[in-house]
Amino acid sequence: MKFKIIKDKDPKMRKRSEPVSLPLSEEDKATLDFMLNYLIKSQDDDYARKHHIKAGVGLAAIQIGVLKRMFVVYYQSESEVVQYQLVNPVIIESSVRLCALKGGEGCLSVDEDHPGLSHRHYMIKMKAFDALTNQEVNIKATGFEAVLLQHEYDHLDGIFYYDRIDKNHPHEVKPNEEII
Ligand code: NI
Repeated sequence: MKFKIIKDKDPKMRKRSEPVSLPLSEEDKATLDFMLNYLIKSQDDDYARKHHIKAGVGLAAIQIGVLKRMFVVYYQSESEVVQYQLVNPVIIESSVRLCALKGGEGCLSVDEDHPGLSHRHYMIKMKAFDALTNQEVNIKATGFEAVLLQHEYDHLDGIFYYDRIDKNHPHEVKPNEEII
């Protein structure tokens, strides 16, 4: 599959992605497999250096130019590998409690630095079809995983992590917010 990662200056990245029809077409499944494979390879230092790519833990379809509501996630926590191929995700619940990543967020589509805290819900519940396990899933995520899911979900609505940084007070911690 020929592709390149689309950057944030491209107006396409600001568009709202379209719902995906289910059952999933073979083409959509192939796209998701390609995306997940890309993330896994991006975390291999040698491969990433050789191909001049950044390591990523999440990738939305629009980032490879496909305007569909689907994204993939892949990272290793202390105890397990967290991986999904989520299609038509919906956030059905989110906590009042907030959190933000200490060092800020990053994105494969963003080359410049945008220092500051991206405010997120500490806990979310997300419903989606997971093409990796071929079933409907209800994910309850907290902390880093919740941040990651919200970051990828935002891409489906054309939102970047830096949109969530307060321009006047980029490092100000909100009441109810935990810095993780
Ligand atoms: Ni991103």
